[in-house]
Amino acid sequence: MNPFIPIVLWICISLPGYDSAGLKGKSLIFLTKTDKDYVKLNAADFSSLTAFTVCFRAASEESSRDYSLLSYATGANNNELLIWQKKTGQLTLYLKSPVVDISLPKIDGLLRHVCVNWESQTGVVTAWVNGRRSLQKVGGKGLTVKGSGVFILGQEQDKPGGRFDINQSFVGEITDVNMWDHVLKSTDIELLSQGCFSTGGNIIDWSTIGFTSGGNVKIEDNNDCKF
Ligand SMILES: *[C@@H]1O[C@H](CO)[C@@H](O)[C@H](O)[C@H]1NC(C)=O
Repeated sequence: MNPFIPIVLWICISLPGYDSAGLKGKSLIFLTKTDKDYVKLNAADFSSLTAFTVCFRAASEESSRDYSLLSYATGANNNELLIWQKKTGQLTLYLKSPVVDISLPKIDGLLRHVCVNWESQTGVVTAWVNGRRSLQKVGGKGLTVKGSGVFILGQEQDKPGGRFDINQSFVGEITDVNMWDHVLKSTDIELLSQGCFSTGGNIIDWSTIGFTSGGNVKIEDNNDCKF
């Protein structure tokens, strides 16, 4: 064998950041509290959103501090869209600033399915945990989520794609991140929560998403879909 092949392979595998596409059946595992580990998702382009549903499965044993579950930053606002876990257990939706807190069972070591949806005209926000809906709250009425931003898992952005804060990092496992530009029907969310919904989001589709990983994020089979 050409002696350069193993060297080239070694370089490809050990580079700290790399680009790839498609995470179907894969989980991202953020092992330690650091400001280095992140995954940037290359979501579909949109000019602005007046509604969305974002879903994921996550588990984390972090309980002593707040952290980011999904961070979307634009040049105009670092918190254009942010799903934030508070140490008190509340899930906060930021649309540029905090618009709604919802008290939910706190994320723990058991992987759970979480969705958050929002619609601008009414400002109604609902969260879902394992296919069960929260109360409806109202926030961010009349706002839009601007396009051309950066989606990051594992860290909270203080500028698009960077200025991470170690104390806001996610430590745990996250998978099946999907995002739609509309509010999904409750029956679809119930199906999604069972693990094997056939279609991904039209903004973020976990099974085809292009991504860049930085630091030391483990990508492992999630073995979740039984069908
Ligand atoms: C993170 O939190 C620790 C403990 O509260 C603090 O000592 C440290 O300065 C913080 N680091 C940053 C970058 O804010």
